[in-house]
Amino acid sequence: EAYFASAQSLAGRRILVTAAGTEEPLDPVRYLGNRSTGRMGFEVAAEAARRGAEVVLVAGPTPIATPAGVRRVNVRSARDMHAAVFAEYDSMDAVIKAAAVADYRPAETAEHKIKKSDGELTLTLTRNPDILYELGQKKRHQILVGFAAETQNVAEYARGKLAKKNLDFIVANNVAEKDAGFGVPTNHVQIFFADGRAEDHPLMAKSALAGVILDRLEEALKNKNE
Ligand code: CTP
Ligand code: CA
Repeated sequence: EAYFASAQSLAGRRILVTAAGTEEPLDPVRYLGNRSTGRMGFEVAAEAARRGAEVVLVAGPTPIATPAGVRRVNVRSARDMHAAVFAEYDSMDAVIKAAAVADYRPAETAEHKIKKSDGELTLTLTRNPDILYELGQKKRHQILVGFAAETQNVAEYARGKLAKKNLDFIVANNVAEKDAGFGVPTNHVQIFFADGRAEDHPLMAKSALAGVILDRLEEALKNKNE
């Protein structure tokens, strides 16, 4: 039987997508950040909306335009993202967590610009909440999809995160590869599922990968309803 993604296959579904990196302020002019541009998450949000889902996109700072039909909530820090995500969680059918969330933030944010002096400057960093871990702990009906950005031992680390965060599947990539990860329009991933299955995907455009991820999400939603 032929299947067309254009047939509004996610109509009636509510999907939360997070995208881009968080920024953790050090003072009024500086922050700790990371290299995520948000492209992968924005492609997922755009494709989910094309398939008829009601999409909320919680996005860190990025110049990327809001995809058609998507409700966007802008956030800056990991704690902002935590609050925005949990404000929406109960009513969602699925969460796709493509954001690169800072694991640590400066222990203090200076009220005024930090002035340089001759010696070293030591920063103390404190742990941010692990948003996806908490979503996993509080999961009821939702399908949870994570990403894993690794530079080594990809399968081992990704499977560990899949289990620890109580995910349905995780999309893992080696960000040390030239055509995968940050700042490029392509990605090369493996997907690991809670039932033990694993898939190797070829290098492809992030827009195409968004389609693959949503195909897997649709299967997971269907299995849940059976
Ligand atoms: N994540 C999150 N909140 C955090 C850190 C990560 O929600 N504070 C989510 C990311 O959005 C991603 C997944 O967890 O979907 C994995 O992120 P990653 O940085 O690869 O893993 P960590 O669990 O943070 O472990 P580490 O950075 O030590 O590899
Ligand atoms: Ca991390």
